[in-house]
Amino acid sequence: MTESRKRPSSAEDLAVFLNNKLTQKKLGVFYTPPLYAKKALELVREAIKQVPEGNDYVIIDRCAGSGNLQEAMTDEELSHCILNTYEYFEYLVLRENFGDKVREIIPPTTDDDYEPVGKVKGSNALNWQDGVHPVMRQYLDDPKCTVILFENPPYSGIGSSDVFSMKGEKSNWSQFSVTKLCDIKTDIGIVFIQSAFKFFIRKPSDAYIVFSPIKYWKADHAVNKKLVRGFLFNKKHFHATEHTGVTCLYWSSEDHTADELTVEAYDIDASGQIVADGDVVIKRVHIKIADKLDKTNLPTVVCNFNGYESKILGDESGQGIASGWANAYVYSNARLDLGLLRGNSGKTTAFSITKENFMHVLPIIAAKEFLSANVRRDYKGYEVIYLSGDRFGSWFNDLEFLKRCFLYCCLFYHNKNLSFVASDGRFYRNELCFDKETIASKELAKHTLNPKEQEMLNLWNALLKKAKKTKEYNPRFTYGLYQIEKEINLRDDDKEYIYPDIHNDIQALKVLLKAYYAKYIVKKLFDYELLK
Ligand SMILES: C[S@@+](CC[C@H](N)C(=O)[O-])C[C@H]1O[C@@H](n2cnc3c(N)ncnc32)[C@H](O)[C@@H]1O
Repeated sequence: MTESRKRPSSAEDLAVFLNNKLTQKKLGVFYTPPLYAKKALELVREAIKQVPEGNDYVIIDRCAGSGNLQEAMTDEELSHCILNTYEYFEYLVLRENFGDKVREIIPPTTDDDYEPVGKVKGSNALNWQDGVHPVMRQYLDDPKCTVILFENPPYSGIGSSDVFSMKGEKSNWSQFSVTKLCDIKTDIGIVFIQSAFKFFIRKPSDAYIVFSPIKYWKADHAVNKKLVRGFLFNKKHFHATEHTGVTCLYWSSEDHTADELTVEAYDIDASGQIVADGDVVIKRVHIKIADKLDKTNLPTVVCNFNGYESKILGDESGQGIASGWANAYVYSNARLDLGLLRGNSGKTTAFSITKENFMHVLPIIAAKEFLSANVRRDYKGYEVIYLSGDRFGSWFNDLEFLKRCFLYCCLFYHNKNLSFVASDGRFYRNELCFDKETIASKELAKHTLNPKEQEMLNLWNALLKKAKKTKEYNPRFTYGLYQIEKEINLRDDDKEYIYPDIHNDIQALKVLLKAYYAKYIVKKLFDYELLK
């Protein structure tokens, strides 16, 4: 054992040690809170009801940790359990609490059977010969024994806060024998899930009840089985930092391909009660939007996410008026994964915005607000709703929608287009703002505005007029809201705004934009499956 893995002296100390946030962070795990473990047990009980008359059954958990999922089980249910975990401290608690109650615990005895790095020998579920521990084999091969796999595997999704980081393992798991036998190797959780169906769920009455972010089904399509029943839980109550959605789904062994799932959401309220929170429909995504977009014609200047220059690319090809980027399905970190700049983001998912295509692609940028602001406070959306290109182009003829997104994107703060002179001496003008004779201003002149839109525009014009009177204003530049905030709406040494009128106008405009977005844009983003 290493210095940082000092061994607590009693089972009680161990349990405290394991539930300590710092320890959890070190181990890279988030244990299931008791209310959710109890709720999930309803699914296990439904699966037990399906066990054919005369059959035995086992409830297997390959990654039981210290046994949170087993805590609320009856002695009868426990007597069917086969439990395994890899972390030595967890194993000690597991054995202490459940060793004499369960059908099998792996390994069955001994203090000595652990590896020096704090892992239990032979308990790495991803390194078992043919995916199955020898102790489990007899049950799996018994035609009269139903297998119910019930687990909350570790996962390490991109951008996920729940990164599996047991020392040395993060880089190793892709080398494990089970990983090698699985098709999708992007995430340790997906390997657990694929291997469940590959090695454990084989008879018609077998069941897999699994906690996981929904990406494995939604984007990776790693499971095509019939969903019997499912829950959506709030991962905040697993001591995660954010309100993100984590599913607990009961899959049968029956093959079935679906494009949407309906699950029951459950939150935990301030008084510590579990509360039903309605049904949520989760839809599959198929096409990443970046794959649909033109990656030539990107501006030669590369900008940081704050809009300012980071470097110049030697390549002189392409002179788009701006660029956007949309990483993967933008479901977990829209602040970094989706955006709009004057220059090239430098990412492989950068796409060019030209004077020919800007009206068609700005709706993609408009989706950012929903993904980065609205869903971030809502576990029913965060890590559940994705950006998709499944109906790419379907919005191109909806001129009213195009106008709304255009108007919104040329005014909102996250349009990080700037006017600036780059280090190569070239002048880059912000063309996607309503100032002087920009491309956007010329486009705007073609549209009729409703009273709400006119109100936003009047406020914008008033704000711009004030900005033009300041000493910070550069008459060569064209300005959007972001550049006014950064370069004109400054504070003095006492942190007071130098131009309170400008500051107030900015705040008022943001309020109008927010209401406009909610009323005129969000629904259409879903209709066109930009949000899905
Ligand atoms: C998300 S926790 C769940 C623990 C517990 N079942 C619960 O729900 O609170 C995932 C568990 O998997 C264990 N684990 C990680 N990698 C493993 C592996 N390769 N084999 C077996 N267990 C593993 C971790 O130590 C951790 O306890």
